[in-house]
Amino acid sequence: MPLNQLLRRPDNCCTDLDEWLSGAGGKGLAIALKEPLALIPTIKAAGLRGLGGSGFPTYKKWQMIAAQYQRDERYLICNGNEDEPGTFKDRLLLEESPHQVIEGALITALACNINHIIFYINPHLKRATKILSNALAQWQQGDYLPQISKVLATALTLKIMPSPGHYIAGEETAAIEAVEGNFPFPRGKPPYPAVAGVHGQPTLVNNIETLANVSHIVRNGAAWFQALGEGDCSGTKIYCVSGDVADGGAYELPMGTSLASLIFQHAGGISDNRKLKAVFTGGPSNSILTANELSLALDFDSLKQHNAALGTGAMIVVAEGNAIISHIAEYLDFFAAASCGQCPPCTSGTSEMARLTRKIAVGNAGKHDLDSLISLSELLPGSGRCHLVDGAVTVLKSSLGHFSKEYQALISKPYS
Ligand SMILES: Cc1cc2nc3c(=O)[nH]c(=O)nc-3n(C[C@H](O)[C@H](O)[C@H](O)COP(=O)(O)O)c2cc1C
Ligand code: SF4
Repeated sequence: MPLNQLLRRPDNCCTDLDEWLSGAGGKGLAIALKEPLALIPTIKAAGLRGLGGSGFPTYKKWQMIAAQYQRDERYLICNGNEDEPGTFKDRLLLEESPHQVIEGALITALACNINHIIFYINPHLKRATKILSNALAQWQQGDYLPQISKVLATALTLKIMPSPGHYIAGEETAAIEAVEGNFPFPRGKPPYPAVAGVHGQPTLVNNIETLANVSHIVRNGAAWFQALGEGDCSGTKIYCVSGDVADGGAYELPMGTSLASLIFQHAGGISDNRKLKAVFTGGPSNSILTANELSLALDFDSLKQHNAALGTGAMIVVAEGNAIISHIAEYLDFFAAASCGQCPPCTSGTSEMARLTRKIAVGNAGKHDLDSLISLSELLPGSGRCHLVDGAVTVLKSSLGHFSKEYQALISKPYS
């Protein structure tokens, strides 16, 4: 799994703090300690965007927290819940290069006046948690943390907290609930976490990959980061490629790399010399791209213009000969199981879509089942408190659009 390019070069991939500090590490933090007020403008100029799925400009969230400097407690949740099928980049970052994540979180605390950092990690990522825990202990023995507390004029606390491990627990307000010790039910917004998050205090939630970029940007400058991307894009992206490819894995490449280049140049093409049928782009909660769309750039804006989304950067590849509907049924089962139960349309809607899709997939459905499925896909968007139900509908609708013949063929001869 080549996690070896650009920001995460092999010399950045170490678990020993002294090794990290003798290479790329520590230099960004030293700059941040001297000029904390310059950090948000640098992140803005660099064009860093949230890599947990939304692509929201990172500096905007940071500004909202920094504006709350007069409040007593301010929290950073480093979101490592990572539970979506096909996504494994945060685990790799934590296992192979925990210090760049920790240093990124420390710089973020300085930029936003944050005095509590919580590494919120999926408990199934046991190895990652152990490596992170050892890495954190090394920072706690050094003299950086007292220096940060001095600049913040308050004690900085750091801890690792296992998330509840369910997919929904990665949604930012659900994470806040979990940190408070509650079941991870997403909250309604407003108020936004920047105003009232953990225990009613300002809270920033950033993804592990987002944080991993921060020390490099501060050390090398905004222009350096911008130049890493393709075209107008900034920085890099870790694309997780899985499914019917020869060399699946996590590829850190310029943001905006084309789908063709990712699959054929880097991931070795389609396995067993078959042809490409489709790619679940951005994981199971986004749209499907087909072989006609290989030239598309894989970045937030290009995909949005094409009514698709980059999501977490997961690319699940399907070869000709494999049924799309089996994947859809599997993903809808996943969403139905993940629904937290707060919004009836989401809970019953995802279950019903999963049931109907399974029925169609096994050739046991009629036209009325497909009609019901289509009608649910029209009715459900926007009916939930969080985006889980929207993600489930997006992938379903995309499959109905691109592969309607596959659905039609399966209902044409219902078996009784
Ligand atoms: C159902 C659901 C699950 C999510 N799971 C995660 C997750 O595991 N990790 C993550 O970083 N973001 C996840 N998100 C996105 C977060 O709500 C949030 O946008 C993100 O952590 C913000 O970090 P970023 O700005 O650095 O991307 C999820 C969102 C939804 C709707
Ligand atoms: S949309 Fe679904 S997952 Fe999200 S809060 Fe409502 S019931 Fe829970």
